[in-house]
Amino acid sequence: MGTGRARLAASILDADLGNLAYDVRRAVRNGADRIHLDVMDGHFVPNLTFGAKTIKALRPRTEAPFDAHLMISDPGRYIEEYIDAGCDSITIHVEIEEPIEPTLRAIRARGRAAGLALRPATPLSALEPYQSLLDIVLVMTVEPGFGGQAFMREPAKKILPARQLLRHRPVDGEVHVDGGVNRETAEYVGGLGVDVLVVGSALWVKGHDQGREIRLVKALADEGYQYNLNNGVPPIPRDNWVRFTSLPKPIAKAFMAEIEAGGVPVIMLRGDGQMNPDGLRNYELLVPASAQILVEERHAGERDVRLAEAEAWREIYLREHPEGAAVVAADRRPSGGR
Ligand code: DX5
Ligand code: ZN
Repeated sequence: MGTGRARLAASILDADLGNLAYDVRRAVRNGADRIHLDVMDGHFVPNLTFGAKTIKALRPRTEAPFDAHLMISDPGRYIEEYIDAGCDSITIHVEIEEPIEPTLRAIRARGRAAGLALRPATPLSALEPYQSLLDIVLVMTVEPGFGGQAFMREPAKKILPARQLLRHRPVDGEVHVDGGVNRETAEYVGGLGVDVLVVGSALWVKGHDQGREIRLVKALADEGYQYNLNNGVPPIPRDNWVRFTSLPKPIAKAFMAEIEAGGVPVIMLRGDGQMNPDGLRNYELLVPASAQILVEERHAGERDVRLAEAEAWREIYLREHPEGAAVVAADRRPSGGR
């Protein structure tokens, strides 16, 4: 949760590994939106960290989402273990030599978000064959393997065009940036529209106020977005939802499915508006504020059709269930709550 657009994933690579659970909870308390888990196998990268067992042990310690970043040569062999460990998203590297598609499919089959990561020198075009299977594109701005390295500006330029690869997920597809992200570089990556900033070493400097660091990085990223991509307008917080329409239940349900088929999540809520002859108030369809313009463009015409359909449905329903008229009439009396 937060008031801005940018989300921060705390990488625990440089946390106190002897006190991992404590540090995870501290980062979340200080405003980290997720925990980023760097898994290394000493083969794909020249370093070794932890595996599924450690992730599983951390899982009950926090409710924050877990993003696993697997820097390993053969993720296919272990993927179920990482899913079972409770990862919310799993990102593997596109440069590995084994088949990628089955692993992405396995992640998605279990309802988790699937991502592909790019080393700094790997072009975005390497992701094209897997486009429709991607929920996350992770752009690396250091060579994978170690925390605390200097941010590379050139590879970061992939962030903006990476959005194109996620056009089937217009609202909840995510571009992540990983490596050397801190208060010096947050505004730049924010200006390229990044959704999730992975921040490692900058969060674990002894004597620094971690909460302030997290607030600063997120605020700078939002400023970059505002001035570089959003015509100076502050970004809409990611967790805001707006009302798109209000319809009787069966019609609302069908319309919801139609909007969601286009990749936009919808929340259906019992509203306090019109009472229908079936005894139920209209249901409201809420969409993410960040997708409001898109949903208007795509579905405003259909909304008019559905509203007319609602009128017709009420008439037919009343004809078949005349007692429904009393329900609606009772609602219109001054005492009937609105
Ligand atoms: C590097 C890892 C990163 C790393 C980021 O291989 O993928 O997640 O922990 O650390 P910093 O922010 O220090 O570059
Ligand atoms: Zn990482």
